[in-house]
Amino acid sequence: MTQDELKQAVAEAAVEYILPMLDRDTIVGVGTGSTANLFIDVLAKHKQMFDGTVASSEASAERLKGHGIPVYELNSVPEIRVYVDGADESDHHLHLIKGGGAALTREKIVVACSELFVCIADESKLVNVLGDFPLPVEIIPMARGHVAREMVKLGGDPVYREGVVTDNGNHILDVYNLDILDPIALEKSIDGIVGVVTNGLFAKRSADVLLLATKEGVKTLK
Ligand code: 5RP
Repeated sequence: MTQDELKQAVAEAAVEYILPMLDRDTIVGVGTGSTANLFIDVLAKHKQMFDGTVASSEASAERLKGHGIPVYELNSVPEIRVYVDGADESDHHLHLIKGGGAALTREKIVVACSELFVCIADESKLVNVLGDFPLPVEIIPMARGHVAREMVKLGGDPVYREGVVTDNGNHILDVYNLDILDPIALEKSIDGIVGVVTNGLFAKRSADVLLLATKEGVKTLK
């Protein structure tokens, strides 16, 4: 199976997984990226079964609206039953690196408001130790030099993601070569740097479930 076929399989499995949670009042949180896009396309076939969605990016909101699925502002919904999103890496504790698509801040906010976080990924994303994928850090533009110097002190090699402006009007540093042996501690330390909006470690709040597409089928890790 190709990586695209694995992504399609996990998108379909995710919809099957959440269907029993849906009723006419349910709000579904929807992530960002190529796997999340496939999830949106499958979810659209069941749009009568839930109220609507909250999206973690303008791109996902547009895709949802294109399918005729209502998209609500986060502040106008009381709660999100389940959030479904991809990841750039997951370890076996379901600590994640996210933000390859530059949507990490809104993703982390929507996760924080969701009862259940279902991560969907193909098997290439499962690692023993996080950090082969460079860690995205969203920064206030004027703090770029400062945050970059602080990331070097933490042992990383920051690279400015040229030409990318997030949905929040900020910039991204991709930090290479970090030794992420304690993801929760590192997430907290980076959050403490002035000028950092969010970092792409989802460890303090990890995924609750990882649906992992493998050549042998979709596995459920908790
Ligand atoms: C976007 C993300 C995505 O979930 C992550 O980059 C995975 O994307 P894809 O499904 O395209 O591999 O965090 O900010």
